[in-house]
Amino acid sequence: MRRAVLSLLILLSLVVPALAQQTQKPGPKTVYIRAGRLFDGTSDKVRENMVIMVVGDRIQNVGPASAISIPSGAAVLDLSHATVLPGLIDCHTHLGARADRYDEIYNFKDTPFQHAFAAVINARKTLEAGFTSVRDVGSEPFLAVDLRNSINEGLIPGPRIVASGPGISITGGHGDLNNFSPQTRVTMFPEERDFQIADGVDQIRHVVRAQVKYGVDVIKILATGGVLSKGDSPGAPQFTPEELKAAAEEAHMAGRKIAAHAHGTQGIKNAILAGIDSIEHASLIDDEGIRLAKERGVYLVMDIYNDDYILGKAIEFGLPKENVEKEKMVGRLQRENFERAVKGGAKMAFGTDAGVYPHGDNAKQFFYMVKFGLTPAQAIHAATSNAADLIGRAKDVGTVEAGKFADVIAVTDDPLQNVRALENVGFVMKGGAVFKDAITGQAAH
Ligand code: ARG
Repeated sequence: MRRAVLSLLILLSLVVPALAQQTQKPGPKTVYIRAGRLFDGTSDKVRENMVIMVVGDRIQNVGPASAISIPSGAAVLDLSHATVLPGLIDCHTHLGARADRYDEIYNFKDTPFQHAFAAVINARKTLEAGFTSVRDVGSEPFLAVDLRNSINEGLIPGPRIVASGPGISITGGHGDLNNFSPQTRVTMFPEERDFQIADGVDQIRHVVRAQVKYGVDVIKILATGGVLSKGDSPGAPQFTPEELKAAAEEAHMAGRKIAAHAHGTQGIKNAILAGIDSIEHASLIDDEGIRLAKERGVYLVMDIYNDDYILGKAIEFGLPKENVEKEKMVGRLQRENFERAVKGGAKMAFGTDAGVYPHGDNAKQFFYMVKFGLTPAQAIHAATSNAADLIGRAKDVGTVEAGKFADVIAVTDDPLQNVRALENVGFVMKGGAVFKDAITGQAAH
């Protein structure tokens, strides 16, 4: 008996350390990417025959194949017949929105859960289209925050999200439920006064603080009327300069950036002068607005693709006449003003208002950015290094460089010759994990 115990002890003393060794975490995985052509986002240049060394979720090294020797037996992803780029960034999405819901009444029939289910699908489509980061600038409270957290936890696939709360609106503004009779009492849930509708400096401060309390990364404010809202005019300012200043001050105090929806000429200038960090849409910007944006380093995020969809499919899906008319007023001018802003040297970041058109089609905007004045390389910078700067993530994303997250995409055609190549992203890696691979024909081992 004693002998049996003894031999058991001996056995254990042999087995336990072996077990401990087995349960020790393996080191981070190393993968080498062979890039036939690499546009790393730090310049306009393309370099051939490059190697990207990925360790865990970060890029460890980037260099010519002649300088980085790949050890035999290492995991290799062969993109030697493709152009490799940094993961793309869309600075203006609404992941909770569907582009097939344009009848007037849907807002009142959909529950928050329907938007959340749609968001799960939309997040995956966005990532698979090559967009490894987005700034989501408006959903019900606090869908984008929860979506961001679920993606970060690894529960569902999707891009990195810089999340806002609902866009902050004046009473009767772009973010309010308009055109009910005064006898009808409509309330949103949660109560809109707590998170969304604000009149006067004090209410603005409250709403910004409440949004920060519930975890937003960025504040979105609606500084003019809109196209897809009822009863307001895209050209008209909403909020006074003092209110906008209070919003910017409050956001910055909390370490958040603030984006302003602004179509109208005056509202754009009010927002820039108030210290807002980016102007969304900027449709009716004039030369003074362009100059102010440039002087103050404010990014313009001009969604110049979606006019096609709004005046096409959205009408089929029941878009009311009022909104169609408003789109006709701003759509063409926005594209022309984009060209003027490019010539005027304003900083541009890529943002499309995804959700107005179907998620995953984000890259369709590149064609228009090039048609209206950018070179393909500049358009790609708008969606990589510039966008990373605007969303405050330049240390982590936006270029293919040592130290950054391994957010890397590839296309088989040459996007610097034909920017539409970006509409067919064949390979997507986010944080070192491959989410799509129609190019190498192999799984990294
Ligand atoms: N969310 C924007 C609004 O309702 C969409 C504007 C789209 N039109 C355009 N030309 N960019 O105002």
